[in-house]
Amino acid sequence: MTKVTVIMTSFNKAAYVGRSIEAILQQTLSNFELFIMDDGSNEKTLAAIEPFRKDPRVHFIQSGVKSLEERTAKTRYAVLINQALELAKGEYISYATDDNVYAPDRLEKLTHYLDARPSEDIVYSASKVIYLNSNKEPVKETIRPAQTVQWNAPCAIDHCSVVHRASILTKIHTEFGSYWDESPHFYRIGDARFFFRLNHFYPFYPYDEVLDTNYITEQSIHYQLAEEEKSAFIQALPEQSTCWELRHILKQRHGR
Ligand code: TYD
Ligand code: MG
Repeated sequence: MTKVTVIMTSFNKAAYVGRSIEAILQQTLSNFELFIMDDGSNEKTLAAIEPFRKDPRVHFIQSGVKSLEERTAKTRYAVLINQALELAKGEYISYATDDNVYAPDRLEKLTHYLDARPSEDIVYSASKVIYLNSNKEPVKETIRPAQTVQWNAPCAIDHCSVVHRASILTKIHTEFGSYWDESPHFYRIGDARFFFRLNHFYPFYPYDEVLDTNYITEQSIHYQLAEEEKSAFIQALPEQSTCWELRHILKQRHGR
């Protein structure tokens, strides 16, 4: 049986995506499948991905999305992740982006953690976040810790720091009608929206070691949102839901 399904979303990060894929293919745990879900990237990005497609564990899927209208009609990475989840064969699900670099033993450590704890369904690790300027130089670094059992994961944890059992997805689909919410109102916080759904039933257990590095690049949605002059992509997005709304509802639900 396939131990882990890793789902990576990709869009136009030619300078970073190769390193992200390589860090997955070189994991100490080798029993995984990797879905590279590309959302209509430019030629340079496709060329950076190309050498890795010959690894038999890699499934490369292209969405065919071209227009800005299509790109902003739904939260694209949620759409791509949902497609991959339909095909996933792994006992565990792990998420990746084209600007995040896994530590070499990330999959081994997080799956061993869950193997040893049948009553726990979701684990998250600490994560390093590096902000880059337009010259790709680091300007700020922070650590997202993993020290508490989280019943309020939205905006506290990034999806690249999480591994969960595939078996919990059935309940999410039954309760909410889909896995990840594809509504474009959650483009900014799509993973927070998914975690909101998970946290209705499941807590996130901590693994307190940095096991991935997340780069905020000049292409990143968050970088574009923070810029004074809004890009055409940001201008085309509908109003974005906030962390506060999701966290407030969970706080009331769980009383913490
Ligand atoms: P990213 O730009 O890295 O945003 P953030 O500021 O949240 O880090 O985008 C997150 C993921 O979404 C990344 O893997 C690329 C993917 N993505 C698409 O698949 N399609 C798109 O149109 C966009 C903008 C992003
Ligand atoms: Mg990113």
